[in-house]
Amino acid sequence: MKRDIITIVDFGGQYAHLIANRVRRLGVYAEIVQNDVNVNTIKHSKGIIFSGGPQSVDTDLSPKISDKVFKLHIPILGICYGHQVFAFKFGGKIGRIPEYGKCLLRVNDKSTLFKGVNSQETVWQNHGDAVLEAPKGFSVLASTADNEVSAMSNVEKKWYSVQFHPEVTHSGQLGKQIFQNFIFDICKAQKSWSMKNYLEDLKASIKSEVGKRNVFLLVSGGVDSTVCFALLNSILGPERVRGLHIDTGFMRKNESKMVDKMLKDRGFNNLEIFNAEQEFMKRLKDVYDPEEKRKIIGKAYLDIKDEALKKYNLDEKNWLLAQGTIYPDTIESGGTKNADTIKTHHNRIDQIQELIKQGLIIEPLKELYKDEVREVGRILKLPVKLIDRHPFPGPGLAIRALCNQIKRVAISRSIDSYKPYKVEIVDIKSVGIKGDARSYANPAIISGKYNFEKLQSMMTEITNQQTGVNRVVYNVLGCEFANVKLHQQFLNEQYLRILREVDDITTEIIRKEKLLKKIWQCPTVILPLGNDKSKFSIILRPVDSIDAMSAKAYELSESILMSISKRIKQEHKEIYAVFYDLTSKPPGTIEWE
Ligand code: XMP
Repeated sequence: MKRDIITIVDFGGQYAHLIANRVRRLGVYAEIVQNDVNVNTIKHSKGIIFSGGPQSVDTDLSPKISDKVFKLHIPILGICYGHQVFAFKFGGKIGRIPEYGKCLLRVNDKSTLFKGVNSQETVWQNHGDAVLEAPKGFSVLASTADNEVSAMSNVEKKWYSVQFHPEVTHSGQLGKQIFQNFIFDICKAQKSWSMKNYLEDLKASIKSEVGKRNVFLLVSGGVDSTVCFALLNSILGPERVRGLHIDTGFMRKNESKMVDKMLKDRGFNNLEIFNAEQEFMKRLKDVYDPEEKRKIIGKAYLDIKDEALKKYNLDEKNWLLAQGTIYPDTIESGGTKNADTIKTHHNRIDQIQELIKQGLIIEPLKELYKDEVREVGRILKLPVKLIDRHPFPGPGLAIRALCNQIKRVAISRSIDSYKPYKVEIVDIKSVGIKGDARSYANPAIISGKYNFEKLQSMMTEITNQQTGVNRVVYNVLGCEFANVKLHQQFLNEQYLRILREVDDITTEIIRKEKLLKKIWQCPTVILPLGNDKSKFSIILRPVDSIDAMSAKAYELSESILMSISKRIKQEHKEIYAVFYDLTSKPPGTIEWE
């Protein structure tokens, strides 16, 4: 079928695929190509979108695009790095203005790309570099407090560009409107794509990929693996599908039992439970680096899968391994040509990549995002209780229990400019994302009166201005850190038991307060930080998201924060401080490791 295509040029941004997804959701087919694409292959596109990217446009090694693309007379929309590509190419000025997360946009020209939007809009930013001066022939369409040239256009050429990210859900209605204006008004594209068509195509491609073989699937009981399991069951029939739930010892309280029951209740009898707690713990006992942890966990899953295949007498050649991988797992693991590795997801370790190359892995959901996986789950009529579960990462609590190799003083420095608030930087690192690149940097603790709005604006300012800080947490119980140390700590049963119990308390209160559905995910993290070596600290990380590609801290009331924190301290004398993570994504990620 001949259909209108919007082409996305991928410069290595975390959101290149998300842009394609947004275009498809508006009903228009989108295809992703790399920056070195042969121009002839894209000359029939109705429109072209340049993605963001982790590099600076003005360096020799940064990804470039052929001059011929600008002579195709096709409308182009540049986003972030793509905005800077226009400035660099046509004589504008580039400089450094970091902006991460939420930002207020003033729209000056609503006649084209911004047609139908408000004069002031909230947008989501993720960049260090910016356009300081628009090139000749371009006029400025919108600005922020720090960045005058936040959007620009050369209407005659049909070239438009924005520094912020209209594709992330946190840019809200404005983002959608910009894509609608570009795709339909400017490119004049016609609709031809739907999720229903996609699922039909997907079923056919799974059938042909599996052929006469069977599939073996690791089922954590999370949304992705459960939907994948149900989808494969529905396409191939239960006799050709075997599920294995591995209890890693890093699951939440009573989780493995509950998953087993929920799936059996739903009629899935082709699922086995395999206990591997000791094996996982043995492999991780003196590891503190988060990437190392993730890679060891991914490999342990594979080894235990092999052991299970032997135990159940299943011939490896006839049993493909299926994974519930979704797109964010791929992109965050550095899965495209120019993308940075933010964190290696457990299903994207080297050994898995090798099996993929050999054609031994099938990943039916690999193009989808969490909200779309849930949509597939609804189409398959899975129980709401299963579909709406909070996401839980494959490596489980192991990446929520921060380890530390060398004992040291906890606070490395203070920032004095926020009085009466106290701002202190902790000498431990967590993973974040700044300007499409991995950041592994320190958190800042804010102590003082609770005011969510004020704390949020401090979070934005601190993470934009302090290069070594990618997270900001609030000191809920007003603890003192003068004599507090970061102790040596590795994973062990006691450390995980405390985290599991604290996680359970948090979940129970959130459920009781009827917030379980409103909060997208609420990781609980433990840190070896306390005034005594047997004391630890807890971080509460409730977030608001749709697809995990962008997120913001979910606002908890002071009374709920207090009731969770006090109960944690009352029931666990080992806990010193409780923190509330205020960071959006970017510059933080949802998980700490
Ligand atoms: P981050 O921390 O990158 O996480 O903002 C985005 C979403 O992905 C989940 N996550 C994982 N899921 N394997 C998974 O299956 C992993 O290795 C992994 N790491 C993070 C995380 O919980 C969040 O929902």
